[in-house]
Amino acid sequence: MIATPTMQDWHAHYDGGRDFRPLTDTERRVLSEHLALPEEAQDARALEVACGTGGLARFLAEVGYRVDAVDWARSAIERATATVSDRIAYHLLDVTIGDVAALAPEGGYRLITMRRALAHLPDRTRVVAALAALLAPEGVLCVITPHADRHRAELRGICLDDTEIGLLREGWRHTERFEAGDCTVLLLRGPGPVPSRPPRSAPDASGHVDPSNR
Ligand SMILES: C[S@@+](CC[C@H](N)C(=O)[O-])C[C@H]1O[C@@H](n2cnc3c(N)ncnc32)[C@H](O)[C@@H]1O
Repeated sequence: MIATPTMQDWHAHYDGGRDFRPLTDTERRVLSEHLALPEEAQDARALEVACGTGGLARFLAEVGYRVDAVDWARSAIERATATVSDRIAYHLLDVTIGDVAALAPEGGYRLITMRRALAHLPDRTRVVAALAALLAPEGVLCVITPHADRHRAELRGICLDDTEIGLLREGWRHTERFEAGDCTVLLLRGPGPVPSRPPRSAPDASGHVDPSNR
């Protein structure tokens, strides 16, 4: 099992010229099909969390978004900003403690993305809830995660498995799941309590069972 990398580890990784697998054709296809902006919505705002050297941020800019992209590794942000784009603003920020909300536009983000990063974050439930609060009402949280079944056991720490993916989908009104090579792509819409059927009624103290609740 790999120890959780620190901010310095990530900085050293990028500073040494290394990177991660670029966006694959399958990821591009899924994202284009489901998240590309229609003509009338061009310039809608997106937040790319843990952006690394900015590959996904650049893709989102290409398909019409204006993008805030954040990462806590200084060398990643330096490499990302080497490709100048007037549609992307990069920010050096720890998403677990930094004020991501301060970046959010009025009305919220139409899209928030996080690729190959969620499994690395401590307290991911709290981070996801904080990001959900920054979505516009019609907004989408897109999580792209390495899947545990498609990686060696030593890489379990960078992956989510089906149980963890199931838990992540809970609490969202509309969720979609796609497979893209070694990753799973989740599109999550409508955060908030999902109305669930009340449990079947037990008899009350007098032995009465409410017939509307069977
Ligand atoms: C495996 S890399 C993926 C980078 C990029 N999303 C990609 O797909 O190439 C994980 C990224 O998460 C960033 N990261 C990890 N913890 C973070 C945190 N607390 N705040 C911001 N970024 C973080 C790292 O610096 C690194 O760039």
